[in-house]
Amino acid sequence: MANVVVIGAQWGDEGKGKIVDWLAARADVVVRFQGGHNAGHTLVVGNETYRLSLLPSGVVRGTLSVIGNGVVLDPWALAEEIGRLAGQGIAITPEKLQISETCPLILPFHRDLDALREDASGAGRIGTTRRGIGPAYEDKVGRRALRVCDLADLAAAGPQIDRLLAHHNALRAGFGVAPIDRDALVAELAAIAPAILPFAAPVWQTLATKRRQRARILFEGAQGVLLDVDHGTYPFVTSSNTVAGAAASGAGLGPGALSYTLGIVKAYTTRVGSGPFPTELLDATGERLGARGREFGTVTGRKRRCGWFDAALVRQTVQVAGIDGIALTKLDVLDGFDELLVCTGYRVKGREMAHLPARLDEAMAAEPVYERFEGWPESTAGARSWADLPAAAIKYIRRIEELIDCPVALVSTSPERDDTILVRDPFRD
Ligand code: IMP
Repeated sequence: MANVVVIGAQWGDEGKGKIVDWLAARADVVVRFQGGHNAGHTLVVGNETYRLSLLPSGVVRGTLSVIGNGVVLDPWALAEEIGRLAGQGIAITPEKLQISETCPLILPFHRDLDALREDASGAGRIGTTRRGIGPAYEDKVGRRALRVCDLADLAAAGPQIDRLLAHHNALRAGFGVAPIDRDALVAELAAIAPAILPFAAPVWQTLATKRRQRARILFEGAQGVLLDVDHGTYPFVTSSNTVAGAAASGAGLGPGALSYTLGIVKAYTTRVGSGPFPTELLDATGERLGARGREFGTVTGRKRRCGWFDAALVRQTVQVAGIDGIALTKLDVLDGFDELLVCTGYRVKGREMAHLPARLDEAMAAEPVYERFEGWPESTAGARSWADLPAAAIKYIRRIEELIDCPVALVSTSPERDDTILVRDPFRD
């Protein structure tokens, strides 16, 4: 049975939420495997808009949803999100949601540290979501994190809490900030524990059982490959692996469980936060893309940087992440442009390069080499078959496939669930 991994193939915000929701209709389980509530997924169902950060997109449809061990979990943010969805008529029960017992917790002082570091970094700041994601992953790798299972017995977790606070209090002293009040922290954790523990489970067992039952598993990535801590535009990245392979380690399954990787690709490019962005448009065209595409962050409300489609970068992400097919989103945002540009490579300090250089100074200096396309005056919004698309739009898509060396599996033409052109079913065996 085919299992599908959905990941962003650019800098995040490619429209994964809609595609995951669309695929979730045919999945038996939806699994988050990395990141945390830095992610923002918007689902539009009829007149209702659902904004998810931490919960897998399957919850809206009632599909079994799993938060895997690779996720860093802010228990207060999760409780707030569950409450918000309840207000929209979506009840989250332990039958619907399971959380790995081994998820590291994001605690209030992780958020403090994220902000303290950003504020102290001036022009060198990463532009993080300030949710404490990086500091929480650092504690996981540093072997001093508190995990979901620790909420069940905070007294037993005492020595780990001491190790964790010793580390953070030293950092806080460096920033001139008061030490953490241990008793207050333990009291806060004890108060939130009952909201989280009913969902805690050895999710690797659930997933192994589901595999034996030949269930269809959908792995829902967050952020995008260009924000991957190994493969992205380092150091302007998030602190997790966002490539497809992370789905296996971040859920507790072998790599053989991942049969098809769908990369979500926006028909142009956006980025939030700092860092290299060769095709960025700091002019009226960039403004137009941002306005037409409503490019504001779901999580932080920040204005996204906008630019032309960068085929050289997506060719790179297709390779490093092992993407089998792409879902092209927001094509309709390009409607009405006289001319469209697509980056096919770079000129870096006088040299031609087919990929973005790893060195930051070179990546920042990379000038895009463009191929030019005729635009289309017609509307593609809401198209549900190739026959609904203008010839110039089809030519644009076909050339992108060639340039990135990967076939298009889906085209999305509006935020609405059903406005989707299906070329290849990712769940096909
Ligand atoms: P962090 O993940 O909060 O540490 O932020 C690190 C970088 O990743 C910043 O540039 C953020 O803007 C970016 N980032 C994190 N989550 C998302 C997301 O869901 N969409 C787009 N960018 C994100």
